[in-house]
Amino acid sequence: MGWGDLGVYGEPSRETPNLDQMAAEGMLFPNFYSANPLCSPSRAALLTGRLPIRNGFYTTNAHARNAYTPQEVVGGIPDSELLLPELLKEAGYTSKIVGKWHLGHRPQFHPLKHGFDEWFGSPNCHFGPYDNRARPNIPVYRDWEMVGRFYEEFPINLKTGEANLTQIYLEEALDFIRRQQARQRPFFLYWAIDATHAPVYASRSFLGTSRRGRYGDAVREVDASVGRILRLLRELRLGESTFVFFTSDNGAALVSAPEQGGSNGPFLCGKQTTFEGGMRVPAIAWWPGHIPAGQVSHQLGSIMDLFSTSLSLAGLKPPRDRAVDGLDLLPAILQGQLMDRPMFYYRGNTLMAVTLGLYKAHFWTWTNSWEEFKQGINFCPGQNVSGVTTHTQEEHTKLPLMFHLGRDPGERYPLSFGSAEYQDALGRITPAVQQHQEALVPGQPQLNVCNQAVMTLQVPKSRKCLASANCQALTARQHLQPAAGPARHLPETWF
Ligand SMILES: *[C@@H]1O[C@H](CO)[C@@H](O)[C@H](O)[C@H]1NC(C)=O
Ligand SMILES: *[C@@H]1O[C@H](CO)[C@@H](O)[C@H](O)[C@H]1NC(C)=O
Repeated sequence: MGWGDLGVYGEPSRETPNLDQMAAEGMLFPNFYSANPLCSPSRAALLTGRLPIRNGFYTTNAHARNAYTPQEVVGGIPDSELLLPELLKEAGYTSKIVGKWHLGHRPQFHPLKHGFDEWFGSPNCHFGPYDNRARPNIPVYRDWEMVGRFYEEFPINLKTGEANLTQIYLEEALDFIRRQQARQRPFFLYWAIDATHAPVYASRSFLGTSRRGRYGDAVREVDASVGRILRLLRELRLGESTFVFFTSDNGAALVSAPEQGGSNGPFLCGKQTTFEGGMRVPAIAWWPGHIPAGQVSHQLGSIMDLFSTSLSLAGLKPPRDRAVDGLDLLPAILQGQLMDRPMFYYRGNTLMAVTLGLYKAHFWTWTNSWEEFKQGINFCPGQNVSGVTTHTQEEHTKLPLMFHLGRDPGERYPLSFGSAEYQDALGRITPAVQQHQEALVPGQPQLNVCNQAVMTLQVPKSRKCLASANCQALTARQHLQPAAGPARHLPETWF
């Protein structure tokens, strides 16, 4: 879901009354960011409080390549990473994930092996349907047990857009909350729905109800479901003891616009890019009796902050044996403090940009390759900013392209290199980046398609052939060296 999809952020149809009400009762963050322009790495960062480059959710297959966990990728969340639900156990929390996990398909990556007590959902998005020969449909789990597959036991009608998944996920959430209230035990619910991810879906009672088409129907169902969850918390008198945060794992995917694409409001481009539209996301905190109603925080926030903030709420400290990128947002939320901190934008292992205060510096600009673009894949439809939304990877590490996000949230007018403003901002950004890069210890990349180190450790011999077949498919469409012939398109690499 994008920043611009909520009425409270200015979406003209105003079809999110529940989220708007949540903001009216709580705190809105206009400057909140995902940890990556793509789903898997962003979710790994949310649960570890660490940038994907640290927790291993990146690839070294090609420069600035985005990657996630399709079924073929053998990597996943390393055992050495400490996930939020693992840590919350120390404070007696019971944790459930409902919906999309995305941190690996193999048994060792199962959410119940990484701190969750319950799971209903799937290791991946609802891509498909597949032919069940070369590739099976994506499985759905209840805890340890596989209970079916998308498009089979869990139907999604691509023609009509009908699926009941959000309703099923909602019932799972409500049931979990009721049970924890009955037990009088603290709980952590990670409600990871994916109805706004293409192919977007909604249940029958929401289909056709939006002015915005099927994507809007999906947004409306998510909005109504959030309303149901908040209402249940109040009914059970848990409102004042439950901190609720709503956000997204990346900007809206304009590659599927306008029917399935969403809105990033005034921001440039969408998912897959390190422009604001790719990583600035909606964010609302709700905690009646603690957060005064109707607040706006201009704190630069990150999805990784939810890790540190949740630990703080539970009276726990973040682990001290590793770098944690998340900040405890409670001083910002409860006392209105503003903490100065840089926001880093990565694609794969490449630091593309950084924001400090209101200044954003791009070290690399890139949307996608000409080759992909010519096939009709466009991450910035209708938004060609000359020299900014480039289709070749343009390096600016010596003299970054800089924008003032207050005057120019759409990243259209680069500051003049010779100006005092540019020099002054660069003088503050450079040491922050140097400090980050000098201290950075990258994790072992988990999302490589043909990394022998990962393969030999985790793949039996018979699977190596499959892995190398994928490796060739990938090489054929590496972004830096367009293939001579028309490469077969593998959409999974850009979701
Ligand atoms: C959704 O649930 C309704 C009511 O049970 C049922 O009639 C419908 O077929 C279901 N749709 C899908 C796509 O599963
Ligand atoms: C964007 O605009 C520039 C300059 O006007 C032009 O050179 C470039 O080809 C355009 N790019 C696309 C993808 O249309």
